[in-house]
Amino acid sequence: MIERQFPITRMRRMRKDPFSRRLMREHVLTTNDLIYPMFVIEGHNRREPVKSMPDIERLSIDLLITEAQELFELGIPMIALFPVPDPETKSLDAAEAYNPDGLAQRAVRALKEAIPDMGIMTDIALDPYTTHGQDGIIDENGYVLNDDTIDVLMQQAISHAEAGADVVAPSDMMDGRIIEIREHLEEHGHIHTRIMAYSAKYASSYYGPFRDAVGSAGNLGAGNKHTYQMDPTNSNEALHEVAMDINEGADMVMVKPGLPYLDIVYRVKQEFQAPTFVYHVSGEYAMLKAAALNGWINEKDVVLETLLSCKRAGADGILTYYAKVVAQWLAEK
Ligand code: PBG
Repeated sequence: MIERQFPITRMRRMRKDPFSRRLMREHVLTTNDLIYPMFVIEGHNRREPVKSMPDIERLSIDLLITEAQELFELGIPMIALFPVPDPETKSLDAAEAYNPDGLAQRAVRALKEAIPDMGIMTDIALDPYTTHGQDGIIDENGYVLNDDTIDVLMQQAISHAEAGADVVAPSDMMDGRIIEIREHLEEHGHIHTRIMAYSAKYASSYYGPFRDAVGSAGNLGAGNKHTYQMDPTNSNEALHEVAMDINEGADMVMVKPGLPYLDIVYRVKQEFQAPTFVYHVSGEYAMLKAAALNGWINEKDVVLETLLSCKRAGADGILTYYAKVVAQWLAEK
């Protein structure tokens, strides 16, 4: 026999009216939660659509600034930059990654000059700069070398910090890169540069549209990133990764992708209580867009529900290609 609670407890009483539904809300999505990833290209007054990501464009630096100004006015705290450098800059040693006059570094400098109060985050990884599209330096068998790669990542991080990046975000999944980057930043006097570690980055098939956007898909070919990104079968391993990154000096940790990995977000937040972020990635964006463009879902409602679920799982913030539109929707109400 179950103990009889009904009708003393009627769960529906609190749901009856908007005022009591509003009062008991546990989680809320605001513009403060949003980080907008942006693709930057060479040239002037250039914008290119990304085929697999409708409404997302690659922008030259001048247009990037105009767009970022709008994002800043909408209240978006930070943007994440993804450079799409010209193919001829790619090499085996990825030296372009730390060129002080590289595309990423120029974009950061221009953004910080135009909008000093907007947070600028940069990606620390070598995939835009290698001829083979891997995130690091490879040996003769194509294996990504951990320590050789870190040497380049450290220089890349310094060049971004020198350009004015507020947050550097290693997305490469090499072991020990957070401590090396942290020490290198300290030694160079960049004690305020924050690190958002892509701590639990899975070898996911959801990154396809991103690789189209940055043009690394062609370089990567049939290659994959299974020797450094995490296996989707694992979750305890993610906690191990996050623990290491926090110990090594990460200020923020991230789980990626988003919706299919919210169990990981939840566990990370429960375990560490550190600033925790989630990346709602390109493939997730593409799926929602495709359904929306077909008229099969109500885009606004589904997107807001999706991002709210990231908050409910424990994320403090969300990287999403929907950031701008969501900020506009939230400003409407
Ligand atoms: C590369 C990088 C990737 C993404 C962010 N940084 C792709 C990859 O690891 O191949 C994916 C982002 C997305 O899919 O939206 N270091």
